[in-house]
Amino acid sequence: MIIPAADVPTPGMPPGPAASHAFAPGTALPGAPGLLDLLDVFGDDFVRTPHPWLDLLRASTPVHHDPGTGLWLVSRHRDVRRVLLDPDVFLPDNAQDAVTSLPVAALRVLARAGFQLPPALANNGTDSHPGLRQVVARFLGPRRVAAALPTMEYIADELLQAARARLDAGGTCDLFASFAQVLPCRVLMNLLGIEGIEPATLIRWSDAALELFWGRPTVRRQMELAGLVGEFHTWLSATVQSGTAAPDSLIGALARHRLPGGERLHPQTATSACFFVFIAGQSTTGQLIATVLRWALAEQGMWPRMAHEPGLAQGWTEEVLRREPPVTTWRRVTAQPVELGGVELPAGAPLLLALMGAGSDPEVFAEPERMCPHRPNARRHLAFGTGSHRCPGATLARAEAVVALRAAARVLPQVRLTAGDTDPPMLGLLSFRAPLRVMVTAQ
Ligand code: HEM
Repeated sequence: MIIPAADVPTPGMPPGPAASHAFAPGTALPGAPGLLDLLDVFGDDFVRTPHPWLDLLRASTPVHHDPGTGLWLVSRHRDVRRVLLDPDVFLPDNAQDAVTSLPVAALRVLARAGFQLPPALANNGTDSHPGLRQVVARFLGPRRVAAALPTMEYIADELLQAARARLDAGGTCDLFASFAQVLPCRVLMNLLGIEGIEPATLIRWSDAALELFWGRPTVRRQMELAGLVGEFHTWLSATVQSGTAAPDSLIGALARHRLPGGERLHPQTATSACFFVFIAGQSTTGQLIATVLRWALAEQGMWPRMAHEPGLAQGWTEEVLRREPPVTTWRRVTAQPVELGGVELPAGAPLLLALMGAGSDPEVFAEPERMCPHRPNARRHLAFGTGSHRCPGATLARAEAVVALRAAARVLPQVRLTAGDTDPPMLGLLSFRAPLRVMVTAQ
């Protein structure tokens, strides 16, 4: 594949290079199996510079057993795609399991809040999945998203004007906390008809759920997180069971939904569906917006073009999804013994699909390390999964990132990343990765 030269900027600055690496990015990889013994998927080195590791995995051991997590890491595009497209052999059942087992005390906190996540969406391989998915997808289809564009633009503008006021007063501003995180939450509340709760509370609950189930928190932190997740669940189930949700809201639609046998949805299942939609719909999109902004601000000459050049914000968003996706991995478990990438896997083998690794597979993407906003096959990335569980929020997430990028470049044309802020804190969970700060200063 040939990438048009005009659209080939030099590889963009990553969210922040680590001070030291197990090996320098782009160097030859001698003794790969030995090196892989050092791999720690939660470690700072992997979180800050995952690509050399992913390149190594794809080239040497595309289906690799990781003793640290007990998961089989699948890193080639063709293998990840095959798994996602075969839900009978590769089940979604473990998609939301806690990666770090919860101590009894934390389980008690959750139990007191009546917390349960019966299979509803991402972790549902049963025949109730297609119908439930349809209910959710109706709120997120292209027409609903197109109709929501003016709202998105209005919210984006309001948040950015506040950021501009701070910058005009001579200060700095963190576009992650003040903008990237807030926009998706407010848009989601609007789309799904959620009322009576502060966006900041929903954001705190959603981030806590991600960390509790996809992180490696200490026992003390697990207790704090379980408290927050319990509050989230209590509020959600009360809202679901109160019967007061507007008929045209997601909760109203779930209340009307009938399962394949004609019975009503159990309130726990409706709560479980909402729980996943809320965390999928806000945290991940906020992470995407933060990454998109940071890379666009860091790339020489990119920011001034972003507001006005047709298609640039779309192309840039797509490249970030391919190369630096917020959802870096997703899980499946084998239903039966199966061969994958030359490895014989037993039944019950938990897999970690490297969606990020697939997006940089040179078998599919020429010069994968380059950010090419008009790469013809960019959409072959697997950042939203594929097959029967493919993300139904993809249109919404893309639209929000494009609106955010264009609006920020228009309202804040003179900003740059604050000098010295090259190494921001990173969210480094098993499946979620993004910069947690986008500090800008007026030029
Ligand atoms: C950049 C933002 C997002 C990314 C990268 C992302 C990524 C993903 C991925 C990788 C999956 C699993 C796909 C699979 O198993 O094949 C998924 C599922 C899902 N996502 Fe997203 N997502 C994003 C935003 C959203 C938004 C905005 C919503 C809703 C408002 C959403 C709702 C869902 C739901 C409900 C599922 C489960 C679908 C099913 O199992 O049928 N996501 N997402």
